Amino acid sequence: MGAGAFGEFCLRAFASLSQVRIQAVCDIDVARAETMAFQYQAQAYDNLADLLRDPAIQVVALNTPPYLHAEQGLAVLQSGRHLFCEKPLALTRTDAQALIDAATQNHVLLTVDYVMRYNPFWQAAAHLARSEALGHLRHMGLSNHAAGLSLPAHHWFWDKTQSGGIWIEHGVHFFDAFAWVAGGTGKILASTAYNRADGATDRVEALARFGNTAAHFYHAFDQSGQNEQTAVGLTFEQGYVPLREWAPTSIEIVTPLAPKALIPHLPGEIETRPTSNNRSLIRAYAPEGKAAMVAFVNSIRTGHPLPVSGQHGLASLQLALAAENFTQQADLVAIT
Ligand SMILES: NC(=O)c1ccc[n+]([C@@H]2O[C@H](COP(=O)([O-])OP(=O)(O)OC[C@H]3O[C@@H](n4cnc5c(N)ncnc54)[C@H](O)[C@@H]3O)[C@@H](O)[C@H]2O)c1
Repeated sequence: MGAGAFGEFCLRAFASLSQVRIQAVCDIDVARAETMAFQYQAQAYDNLADLLRDPAIQVVALNTPPYLHAEQGLAVLQSGRHLFCEKPLALTRTDAQALIDAATQNHVLLTVDYVMRYNPFWQAAAHLARSEALGHLRHMGLSNHAAGLSLPAHHWFWDKTQSGGIWIEHGVHFFDAFAWVAGGTGKILASTAYNRADGATDRVEALARFGNTAAHFYHAFDQSGQNEQTAVGLTFEQGYVPLREWAPTSIEIVTPLAPKALIPHLPGEIETRPTSNNRSLIRAYAPEGKAAMVAFVNSIRTGHPLPVSGQHGLASLQLALAAENFTQQADLVAIT
């Protein structure tokens, strides 16, 4: 449902899965729905009501702009279909809770496509934090430089009534990921926004804490696609752990500890080498995988708990709302 830029990407990924058959493609843009449907030998629909009349549909992947998720998601759940919702789950707490309640009442599953939770290197980071193999996790930092320049000024992303703004449309991914890795309750301590000349907010920044772990988030939508970059840095008592790019295909640990004790915590191929100050660099790498829809289908079939529930969607949305609504109190001070 919603065969736009990311819908097209998801269709390709879902079509490659043995657990999934693409039954239908729905988009308000009829030509787009028909082109995509033809490509996957599926039915084309131009509205959700018709899509939901198709008895062969068991799961709806909702890829429309964020402001539509609440109303359309509710219709999907009330029709008895499982909902694989793109982030954000909704724009408000009330709407997110309504979706969670509808899933429960209709005995269907609801998830949010938080891709980091399925990435083996993010999982390794969470495992390192939980096991305290590198000691306590002291700090997490995110520096996210996204391709805002490829989004035209009239794109829904720049309109907060449609997207919710950067924290809600985008930041929810990392609020969820950091809360999961640190395992603590999250709190926004401060946040600020930077606007472009046309008034659109293209950069946001926040300080937060997750239990006893400090966190810093910076999202900038001011780059070209070619120059996109995402860097996460985790600082433990006994080591530094950078995670690079949106879907990392490797993880590194720089530590004074013996690599032997840490290797069992890491996935994929592993290489180690000594670095300065008697430390070691441990690098684990593996190709990218597509696991979120597979996990969702497995949960539907087996009843096993979902890796990402509606509650995760709501909790991360609450942090995003807190970051969005935080008012900067301090005055600017000139120092010459
Ligand atoms: N999980 C991720 O990593 C990730 C990455 C990118 C985007 N997303 C999310 O995916 C969603 C879609 O983003 P996008 O970049 O593909 O947007 P997009 O604008 O490219 O696509 C949205 C599509 O929805 C269609 N649409 C709009 N209103 C509709 C309606 N009422 N009924 C049916 N179709 C309608 C549009 O015609 C368009 O084809 C957003 O929620 C976004 O946040 C998630």
